[in-house]
Amino acid sequence: MIPGMREACRTVHWGIVGTGAIARAFAEGLRQARGAVLWAVGSRSAEKARRFAETFGARRAYGSYAELAADPDVDVLYIATPHALHMEHTLMGLDAGKAVLCEKPFALNAVQADQMVRRARERKLFLMEAMWTRFLPAVRTARDWLRAGRIGALRMAQADFGFRADPEDEPKLLDPALGGGALLDVGCYPVSLACWMFGAEPVDVAGCAVLGPSGVDEWGAAVLRFPDGGIAQAACAIRAETPQEAVLIGESGVIRLKAPFWRCERVTLERDGRVEDEAHLSLTGNGYHYEAEAVMDCLRAGRLEHPDMPLDESVAIMRTLDRIRRLWGVRYPGEGIP
Ligand SMILES: NC(=O)c1ccc[n+]([C@@H]2O[C@H](COP(=O)([O-])OP(=O)(O)OC[C@H]3O[C@@H](n4cnc5c(N)ncnc54)[C@H](OP(=O)(O)O)[C@@H]3O)[C@@H](O)[C@H]2O)c1
Repeated sequence: MIPGMREACRTVHWGIVGTGAIARAFAEGLRQARGAVLWAVGSRSAEKARRFAETFGARRAYGSYAELAADPDVDVLYIATPHALHMEHTLMGLDAGKAVLCEKPFALNAVQADQMVRRARERKLFLMEAMWTRFLPAVRTARDWLRAGRIGALRMAQADFGFRADPEDEPKLLDPALGGGALLDVGCYPVSLACWMFGAEPVDVAGCAVLGPSGVDEWGAAVLRFPDGGIAQAACAIRAETPQEAVLIGESGVIRLKAPFWRCERVTLERDGRVEDEAHLSLTGNGYHYEAEAVMDCLRAGRLEHPDMPLDESVAIMRTLDRIRRLWGVRYPGEGIP
């Protein structure tokens, strides 16, 4: 039997935990994913679950997350709750014997991320952080150009993700109890991109941020130094819209992931100020089916993690986010990090 997937089952039955903004986008994306069935949804409210199931065609709707996790016909749970609940809901899914795809940031901190990874390994179940950007065709092209040596060794990287939040609409962004702030909400994208492109965990971290009245980071920047001497600059904000481009600077050229890099559709390769190559790879659908298909490929092959978003790297990224937060002076209640 393939862990996290029913025997003789080629279609994969998904269960979605939560009915918020990204749960809706992911459910929409699943429509495009080959071999995926949106089987069930779980919500704290039976009525919300029922409405979500009706809108997106889920076969079953549950008024609690525990009932969803207990459904024997669900193969994989997608965790779409606020950051501070990722660990609880991931462990719930793993303990019920399900494979799990958990939204970014993987957890609130590295201690939690490590616990999630240990549990998945103990139970021999698939687990992945839903860093969907890594599975987009244009972003993969940029990574392939880099790996093929087309800009020589990577020396520097720059990326930013800032937007103007409406706290009325998204109170969780300012709430420390839910892991609010720019870094965990959107800063994890440039940090994750840098770690993936440099293929390592940073050895040095510097940075500063401005905290708002609730104590969370509203805008800030970090500089990361990698073991091979590479340097990345990562900036994020929930109070200002930033350009949202990512630039990879090599010893002999530059790769640009055109804005918004986190849902990139166009990449260029420049040398001496001239565009030498360009790839325009439009997303089909809303783009969330790429990561869903990557998960299902692993389940069918009996793999417990994906090589492009491995678990040790998700923990290392959380460790880096912890280090940045420590420098910025952002602490969440009860998380107990030194
Ligand atoms: N990959 C991406 O592109 C992307 C985009 C946006 C967000 N995200 C990530 O996805 C996660 C959810 O973000 P979102 O924007 O979808 O949030 P959201 O709209 O606030 O939805 C979160 C859902 O979680 C459930 N929930 C359980 N406990 C909750 C609590 N105490 N407070 C609020 N909601 C609670 C709720 O569903 P029920 O009421 O039905 O139980 C709620 O609808 C975050 O970790 C975020 O970083 C990823």
